Formats: sequence, C-alpha cells, structure tokens
Amino acid sequence: MSEQPAAPLPRHIAIVMDGNGRWARARGRPRTIGHRAGARAVNRCIDWCLAHGIEALTLFAFSSENWRRPPEEVGALMQLFLRALDREVDELARRSVRLRFIGQREAFTPDLQQRMALAERLTAQGGRLQLNIAVSYGGRWDIVQAARSLAEDAAAGRLEPGSIDEALFGSRTSLAGQPEPDLFIRTGGEHRISNFLLWQLAYCELYFTPVLWPDVDAAVLDAALADFQRRERRFGMTSEQRSREVPT
Ligand code: FPP
Repeated sequence: MSEQPAAPLPRHIAIVMDGNGRWARARGRPRTIGHRAGARAVNRCIDWCLAHGIEALTLFAFSSENWRRPPEEVGALMQLFLRALDREVDELARRSVRLRFIGQREAFTPDLQQRMALAERLTAQGGRLQLNIAVSYGGRWDIVQAARSLAEDAAAGRLEPGSIDEALFGSRTSLAGQPEPDLFIRTGGEHRISNFLLWQLAYCELYFTPVLWPDVDAAVLDAALADFQRRERRFGMTSEQRSREVPT
C-alpha cells in the first residue's frame, strides 16, 4: 500500500487580529481590556505555530491608519506593547522565537524604538519560529519604501534600472529573505486585507473567520489549517501541471 503524502503545511502564516474592541464591548468592558485579551491570544497562536513547525508568523498589531484611533486607545496599546515586550522577550528567546518588527518604527517614541531593537537583539539566535510584528505598517508604505530605495540606488548609479525585476524588488520589501506568506487569516468577520502585506500576499490562500481575535485558540487555528490543506494551490498552472510537479 502506498503511503499518503503528508498534508502540506503553510511555511508562513500572516494574521489580521481583528475583533478586540467587539470582544470587550460584548462584555461591557473598555476596548483596552479587549487588547489585553488579544495579547493572550497572541501567545496561544505562537504556541500553536511552534507545535506545528510553522517557520514564520506575521501579526498585524498596529496599522499606519490605527494612529487615527482615540489618543487614549493608542496610548493604551503602546503601554501594552511595552509591557508585552518586557514580559515576553526572555520567554520568546527561551522558546527559540526570533522577533522582528516591520513598519515605520520612527513613528514610535524613542523608548519604544529602543526596546524593539533590544528585543530583536535578544532573540536574534531564535531558529524555531520567525515572529514578525507589523507596527505602524501599511502594505502600500512597504511597496513605496522598496521603490524609493531602488530609485535612490539608480539615481546614485549603483543600479541599472533595467535590472529591476520582481526578485530584486521583493528583496527591498519588509519580509525579504523569508518565505512568502502562504496562509492569511483574518479574524473578526470582515473580508478585507486592509492594507496588510499587499506585495507578499500575491499567491497566498485567504481564510476568514467570524471568531473575534481574543477567542482564538488551537481549535480555530486547526480549522484554518484544515481549510488550507483542502485548497489546491496552482500558482497560475493547471491542476495537471501541478500534479506532475515534484511536491515542494
Ligand atoms: C484590532 O481589533 C486589533 C488591534 C488594532 C490591535 C491588535 C493588538 C493586539 C492583539 C494586542 C497585542 C499584540 C501584541 C503583538 C502584544 P479592533 O480594536 O479593531 O477590534 P474591533 O474591530 O472589534 O473594534
């Protein structure tokens, strides 16, 4: 009897963690309580990724548009990020999780920027899971900053414009060097990408669940994985061509 090939596992999962505010409202609590519960769900999600051997996890923690929220909520989120960094960084390093922040860091206070850099240094040896936290991040910003860096090199004569191709462009985007996300999850019931990883999601499988982020647990992630494993990923080819390919 021939063995069934192992079900494919996503190498990189990207998540829009939506629904903290509604979770809190449903309990008659302030939105910040929802964000705190959301931070606990982040930990459960990291545990699940480690247990499943996922290589990279990218979480949308704060978009470039989130600065428009009421100042009290922005302030509370910043406090939460600071506390989570201080509390979790040793534990992340112990679990061999490598932390990286992507986005416009200069938008944050010097204190937070320093702590982000320190957390990256302290977890730099992590080899089990690459954890990317998108902060003040926007997919259009990412594309524009990549284009600007190439334009600067071309203007300075360091680069021939004709040599710009997708690989070179991708190498200037925020997640360069990592496998592209192959599973995108958005919780909270909305069916939008909301200016998350626009360049990197080109061939990603999209999964939407009504579950609010603070309620996410292993069962919710198992359901997303099972859905992913039922998809046929063709990358523009026919099913017949894909089935002839050596599985990657
Ligand atoms: C969206 O829910 C969530 C955010 C804007 C913040 C995400 C932050 C966390 C999960 C907290 C911890 C993160 C880390 C990395 C420690 P929403 O407020 O838009 O919810 P709503 O749509 O129900 O209003």
